[in-house]
Amino acid sequence: MVNRPAREDKFSFGLWTVGWQAADPFGAATRPALDAVEAVNRLAELGAWGITFHDDDLIPFGADVVDRDRRITRFRAALDATGLVVPMVTTNLFGHPVFKDGALTSNDRDIRRFALRKVMRNMDLAAELGASTYVLWGGREGSETDAAKDVGAALDRYREGVDTLAQYVLDQGYGLRLALEPKPNEPRGDIFLPTIGHALAFIATLEHHEMVGVNPEVGHEQMAGLNFTHGIGQALWQGKLFHLDLNGQRGPRYDQDLIFGHGDLLSAFFLVDLLEHGGYDGPRHFDYKPLRTEDADGVWASAAANMRSYLLLRERARAYRADPEVQEALAAARVPELATPTLAPGETPADLRADTSAFEDFDTDAAAVRGYGFVRLSQLALEHVLGARS
Ligand code: GCO
Ligand code: MN
Ligand code: MN
Repeated sequence: MVNRPAREDKFSFGLWTVGWQAADPFGAATRPALDAVEAVNRLAELGAWGITFHDDDLIPFGADVVDRDRRITRFRAALDATGLVVPMVTTNLFGHPVFKDGALTSNDRDIRRFALRKVMRNMDLAAELGASTYVLWGGREGSETDAAKDVGAALDRYREGVDTLAQYVLDQGYGLRLALEPKPNEPRGDIFLPTIGHALAFIATLEHHEMVGVNPEVGHEQMAGLNFTHGIGQALWQGKLFHLDLNGQRGPRYDQDLIFGHGDLLSAFFLVDLLEHGGYDGPRHFDYKPLRTEDADGVWASAAANMRSYLLLRERARAYRADPEVQEALAAARVPELATPTLAPGETPADLRADTSAFEDFDTDAAAVRGYGFVRLSQLALEHVLGARS
């Protein structure tokens, strides 16, 4: 039996997800605006644990101080009344036309300085609300033409920007860690830091690299044709999985932001298996868009569907792990053997070179004919996903 979502499941939603009014490049909004307080109340009722937001989701760009304070006060009161938390906050550095050539990497220096101030201001609010992660999604950081950007200079400015923000967090004594969110394209033709791998390599060059990790999104890696579970595996391995955006995507095309599980289901299964058994205890954050066809009832059904998909896949992953036949198939496929170091304890390269059993006497023909049994294992996983095995 799959339980209903509970606080300890750590499900969180962006205010911009359930609040998406469904305007797209070809058509107008199909839904009215959603009040932030209603979002808090409805998500809490559905069993969510947290809500996240961009500054402009909560406070319209350019709002005066009185309006800003009033909106924050109402939002806080709803959080207090429901117990919903704010685990992550982010900045909108893409909506206003001022960011049409990017924010931290705009060619226009004044815009880069404005962008940093916009982030700092919202970091103050994030800290006040008790958030522990601050996401930076550089949706407009990039170009449509290679003539427009000096990539090395853009990365220098990106690094300067993230270093400045990390220093600000330290100077203010905020308990925030930064998480960079990769995406290959959309809205820019090409976005800087397009994949988890690019982001990890960039982070290694930062002054405060220990406080910066990644916030990978399922669909974004899949837009680039990459294996999301492998990307998450590497981010975990490097201690850099600070947060993540769960959703669905069907192959390399525009960013679909489907409900979690409504894209590549087998990949979603192996992702949940990895998150549940691979040592990730952070938020299970949904960054999706309720289909444009849906009314308000459809919006809340879609929010519930994300959590239920996750819980069903978690239950399937547990059943898979507990199945004696799966354990036997894993051993037969020598999956656990990959955890054994290739060299013996204390063995040196010279020792390996002297080991004739490793090379001169190694029977390559016999080793080459051994099958791995991955098909059997893969089919067992599929059968668990389909509920054919309990
Ligand atoms: C997308 C992005 C955004 C970011 C969000 C956080 O779907 O293109 O995921 O939704 O996650 O703006 O800054
Ligand atoms: Mn997306
Ligand atoms: Mn996202």
